[in-house]
Amino acid sequence: MLSSAVHSLAILASGQGSNFEALALASQRQEIPARIALLLSDRPDAPVLERARRLGIEARCLPGGRYRTRLEDERPWIAELESRGVGLVLLAGFMRRLHEGFLSAFRDRILNIHPSLLPAFPGLDAVGRALEHGVRVTGCTVHLVDDALDGGPILAQSAVEIRDGETRASLEARIHEVEHRLYPRTVRRYLSEPWRREGRRIVFGAASLEPVRG
Ligand code: GRF
Repeated sequence: MLSSAVHSLAILASGQGSNFEALALASQRQEIPARIALLLSDRPDAPVLERARRLGIEARCLPGGRYRTRLEDERPWIAELESRGVGLVLLAGFMRRLHEGFLSAFRDRILNIHPSLLPAFPGLDAVGRALEHGVRVTGCTVHLVDDALDGGPILAQSAVEIRDGETRASLEARIHEVEHRLYPRTVRRYLSEPWRREGRRIVFGAASLEPVRG
């Protein structure tokens, strides 16, 4: 599969938005071959909204309704993205799981970054749990999103060693630094190289042709 037909992408984020900013700067430097059409947040107070405006990227907040189901929350998100011709969705600290309606509207076209070496420490507080567990190496993972929590096929990973005396804050800062390089690089690769699945493994590059026997 090759995603080269993607001209516009959207980023969904709920928090600070440091990964959003790394992606936005990479796109402005043309290191990512697609423009960021929209930053969508589900939280009106998310600092990422201000970051987007500062970078000249359209930012919208569509909060999930208090009494509505997630399916109903997601319909306006899908409409916003489809109306802008968005072909790729990047989750960057988006604190909600996506419903099947959203997943099928963007099948194989939703990526996420997670602050651990998956499948270790999926879900919340991956950094704190890695530290508490005493693992010597953690890191970050970019993966395709499916309906399993942080369980979709892996596109790229980077390792971060946990040092003696490490605090949660110091480890989080070092993982963030690595994320800011890994996510743009992986999006670029995903958009520029053909890829295919071999079981759970994503293989980049053109498939080699079977030799023709005469
Ligand atoms: C990142 O650590 C990312 O891996 C996780 O949420 C965090 C978001 O940080 N999914 P930021 O909002 O991009 O600064």
